[in-house]
Amino acid sequence: MAILEILEVPDPRLKTVSTPVEADEFNDDLKQLADDMLETMYDAPGIGLAAIQVGVPKRMLVIDLQPEDPDADPVECEHDGHKHTHPATKKEPRVFVNPVILDPADDMSTFNEGCLSVPEIYADVDRPATCRVQYQDLDGNHHEEALEGMMATCLQHEMDHLEGILFIDHLSRLKRQMALKKLKKIRQVA
Ligand code: NI
Repeated sequence: MAILEILEVPDPRLKTVSTPVEADEFNDDLKQLADDMLETMYDAPGIGLAAIQVGVPKRMLVIDLQPEDPDADPVECEHDGHKHTHPATKKEPRVFVNPVILDPADDMSTFNEGCLSVPEIYADVDRPATCRVQYQDLDGNHHEEALEGMMATCLQHEMDHLEGILFIDHLSRLKRQMALKKLKKIRQVA
């Protein structure tokens, strides 16, 4: 496994429309890429990553919402000089190859979104509250499932990456400019 470099705005590659994973590409290289993407995502840390975010213009994405694990002991951690505990989480890695969204709901839900390619910036985005997804797994098998809540939002966010769209592209021009200005400022300090 390897941690890959995550592309960040304004890298023009993030505007690429990714191409399908072809039948003869379901091989060990694809599995390796999925493993590396998951490791990169956990390291960042984040909950979703599309292949184009590591410079691979293929229609593949990984998601892990890392839900709380009620069976595990809370985790104690320390940052900025003070200690606190938070619930332990468990890993539930998901890989979607050639995903297609079906039946997006008319009713919308709003989540405060962030993106590993737009670090430190968060903004509310409205998306259909539920949808279905058709996708292939790493062996090329076809699946379909219904999504809701954070999973529906996260998958739609990652699907946007496959079309070269970032979550800040859903904001008004003014809000997007403010977000990019803030990012520029953060980078100057860093
Ligand atoms: Ni993103």
